Amino acid sequence: MCGIIGYTGFRPAAPLILDGLQRLEYRGYDSAGIGLLDPSREFELHRSVGRVTSLRESFDLEKSTSHTGIGHTRWATHGKVSTENAHPHKSHYGHFLLVHNGVVENFKKIKNFLLEHGYSFYSETDTEVLVNLIEFHYRQGQVAELANFLQATQKALQDIQGTYGIAVLCRDFPDRLLAAKNSSPLLIGIGEQEYIVASDAAAIVPYTSRVVYLQDREIAFISHDELDIYTLQTKKTSITTHLIDWSPEEAQRGRYEHYMLKEIHEQPQVIANTMRGHISDDLSTTHFGGIAALLTQFHRLDRIVFCACGSAWHACLEAEYLIEHYARIPVEVEYASEFRYRNAPLSKNTLIAVVSQSGETLDTLEALLEARRKGYSVIGITNVVGSSIARETDAGVYQHAGPEIGVASTKAFTSQLCITAMLAIYLGRLRQMDYTDGTAFIQALQELPKKIEETLLLEAQISEIAQRYHHYEQFLFLGRQTMYPIALEAALKLKEIAYIQAQGYPIAEMKHGPIALVSEHCPSFVLETQAAIFPKTLSNIQEIRARHGKVILVTTSDIPSEDMEVEERITIPRTHHALQPILATIPVQFFAYHMALLRHCDVDKPRNLAKSVTVE
Ligand code: F6R
Repeated sequence: MCGIIGYTGFRPAAPLILDGLQRLEYRGYDSAGIGLLDPSREFELHRSVGRVTSLRESFDLEKSTSHTGIGHTRWATHGKVSTENAHPHKSHYGHFLLVHNGVVENFKKIKNFLLEHGYSFYSETDTEVLVNLIEFHYRQGQVAELANFLQATQKALQDIQGTYGIAVLCRDFPDRLLAAKNSSPLLIGIGEQEYIVASDAAAIVPYTSRVVYLQDREIAFISHDELDIYTLQTKKTSITTHLIDWSPEEAQRGRYEHYMLKEIHEQPQVIANTMRGHISDDLSTTHFGGIAALLTQFHRLDRIVFCACGSAWHACLEAEYLIEHYARIPVEVEYASEFRYRNAPLSKNTLIAVVSQSGETLDTLEALLEARRKGYSVIGITNVVGSSIARETDAGVYQHAGPEIGVASTKAFTSQLCITAMLAIYLGRLRQMDYTDGTAFIQALQELPKKIEETLLLEAQISEIAQRYHHYEQFLFLGRQTMYPIALEAALKLKEIAYIQAQGYPIAEMKHGPIALVSEHCPSFVLETQAAIFPKTLSNIQEIRARHGKVILVTTSDIPSEDMEVEERITIPRTHHALQPILATIPVQFFAYHMALLRHCDVDKPRNLAKSVTVE
């Protein structure tokens, strides 16, 4: 995801900014840029697609005399990956340079306003609107007055709707740096005669551990030796500083001991990012700009075949339940590695959908190429912009889950669940689903990040459960319908990071074989959130208990199971049927994580596994 760094102080700015950008690389990005402000009031701007190393090679560091500058790593959202879309962006009359994380939601309206006032635009980004709006207000005031720089920014930020973390330079003030935020992280490192602004502590901790966390709708106005903080209207009288006690390496993980834990906790924001831009204006359906071109085909579709591997395959299985239920389109789910060699007979109106977090999994890529070879349209759901799968598909949807570093997929998996649920509703609304059902889904979708936050509070309970169970060597994970793919995912998580033999099964199938495993040595996780079929699940639970099997139940508070005898009960919030699997995933992610921790396993780098499987 995007990263920001800004500097003003006694050091040459360029090396420090490039170093900061490299420290933000782990977040994932597709282009980068740096803007420097010379003491002679000239801007120096360098932007490039690809790695920070190529940006570093694009200019002579030795020659740079600037002590003030800004830098950015961009993860494309608004506009394709290109040099023109990379940040910093320069304003029309050349007074300002700006880097931005976030989304300006009312950018079209503001752009039209600025076009009417003679402004030109050179990129497809919403950011360029913001830098020009600041300039517009600046030119309305007393140009070259320091206070005007601040006031113009205050006015512009009052005008915009959306989220932002910004760092801004004004040509008229070579030792000034301005930073502001709203729902996008930004902190200011305080050194001796220097300040460093960054979206992530990782870029600051090599230089100082004293920081100020900027709050929403606050503006930091900074010179080499002075930091003032303003709201969008007035000046703040007090500034609170904090000490960061992490190493630079730890800073990337924040306060979390492992990336996996960090990524589990990021899920409220990830899901908000995944759904952003996919909700219709009338709040009755979802839409997907990336696959709109295939729209006519969706009306004729008679089958969708999903291909994926591992966790992504589990997300596809969820898609099968949801799309068949809400859109009445037959769905098949194939292991990509099987599909490519299977030569499955497919009808003319079949759509192939491939799902891959990395976008580089070779089996999935080959399945895609095989489907295209045979003339089928292929859509892709991936997390990595510009990945091989993203490039090879006819159209697609990006997950916007941010870089996933822990080898075990967590946030990328739930973001795939979110996309498949949104797709089911989209297809449902194109067919027979009515307006009211559509609005109920959208409302639940908008409430989902909050409910994920509530679910994350279960971590302490689940870690205690793990204390009681970490010595068991086998587990069963059982679920029905939409909980069945989550049972599979839970078993996979436990296997891959805690090295425990675990089996996921549809709960009623248990009596056709796996029940032979049930004993006091094999506990069962049961996932059940549907009240209507709970009595059936209750019978299955009793079958387990009659064979001395312990039961850990994941359910919702509205299901009357209080007096039922189970060893553990984990209660997750209730949400819309199509989104309930997302909430049910979180406890099993925590369980696998804490089990692995207690068994002293390398959580982020489990043995024998790679993050991106680019071999067959
Ligand atoms: C499990 C896991 C793997 C991946 C699989 C596919 O935690 O991470 O099973 O889901 O290797 O990877 P992508 O989604 O990158 O194609």
